[in-house]
Amino acid sequence: MHIRPFDFSEADYQAYAGVREAAHPEAPLDIAGAQHLDRTRSSSDVMARFLVEQSGQVVGVLEYATPYYDPRPGALEVRYHLRPEAQALEGALWAFLLEQLTPYAPHELLAQVRENWPEYRFFLEQGFAEVERRWESVLDLDHFDPTPFVRPLPPGLVLRPLSELPWQEEGFQRALYQLEIELLADVPSAEPITPWPFEVWQARTLSDPNLLPEGFFLALQGEQLVGVTMLFKSHRPQTLRTGLTGVRQSHRRQGLALALKLRAAEFAKTYGVRYIRTSNHQTNRPMLAINEALGFVKEPAAVLLHKELQS
Ligand SMILES: CC(C)(COP(=O)(O)OP(=O)(O)OC[C@H]1O[C@@H](n2cnc3c(N)ncnc32)[C@H](O)[C@@H]1OP(=O)(O)O)[C@@H](O)C(=O)NCCC(=O)NCCS
Repeated sequence: MHIRPFDFSEADYQAYAGVREAAHPEAPLDIAGAQHLDRTRSSSDVMARFLVEQSGQVVGVLEYATPYYDPRPGALEVRYHLRPEAQALEGALWAFLLEQLTPYAPHELLAQVRENWPEYRFFLEQGFAEVERRWESVLDLDHFDPTPFVRPLPPGLVLRPLSELPWQEEGFQRALYQLEIELLADVPSAEPITPWPFEVWQARTLSDPNLLPEGFFLALQGEQLVGVTMLFKSHRPQTLRTGLTGVRQSHRRQGLALALKLRAAEFAKTYGVRYIRTSNHQTNRPMLAINEALGFVKEPAAVLLHKELQS
């Protein structure tokens, strides 16, 4: 086994995607998305990725980094994938990883895996414990009939796509950022999310190659943004991916989230895809109630694991 640093070339991203495809064909790597995440890392982030080779062939990938979506101090997120025929290398990879981590002295390691992946079992064997689970789920638009869900919007409220709003203006961007921060605080995650600073959010969200301003819907009352649901392009065939859906507390239980999701589904159909994917915390009853009613079908859960380390 030979471990070498990832060089961020197109060839290395292709090699990474090849490993991921062999290890988890149901969850292929979004190369453009991964490149965007890598490019928008902040300078204070820790980030190291390696390719694992055997007989000149790339058989694995290994990474440790500041958690992208929740960059809390002292925590590092670890990730590895191995081609099925190279699975026996996981012990050697773990030893290499621990040695690499020593200078950073993290007090916590995080990992995100699907419950049916071999990585899940391996991390548990290394002393990781579950923090929380999310359902990945898919709606097949070919078998979706919106008719039973359609209701009039509450008076004074309208739904508009981002493409029809002044989303290139900083004033509007700050209002959207505030809305997202407020809603993220209400997502029932096991630990409070550390929000990105505005400039980081601006670079990561608004220059995301998967951003689809025509499929990103806002609910407005006058000029005030009161709700959102967002569809992003996906590397999966025939698919759009849902980002955050949320409604301000003052406007909940008036059918707004449902109306936003219906509008997004209508857009997806017109856009020409068959599937909408989403991911929800298993404790998020309000959001799951809506998605279950619409007919989203659950896949194996995505599990967030953590391991405390002695500093
Ligand atoms: C989940 C959320 C978007 C729902 O928004 P909403 O506009 O209040 O939802 P709707 O009014 O469209 O609800 C439609 C139906 O969903 C179900 N539902 C919504 N909220 C519910 C709740 N708190 N408990 C149980 N069922 C709920 C109900 O069946 C409801 O219909 P009803 O009001 O006629 O009974 C909102 O609670 C929210 O913003 N939460 C915080 C952010 C979040 O967690 N987003 C999801 C992240 S993936």
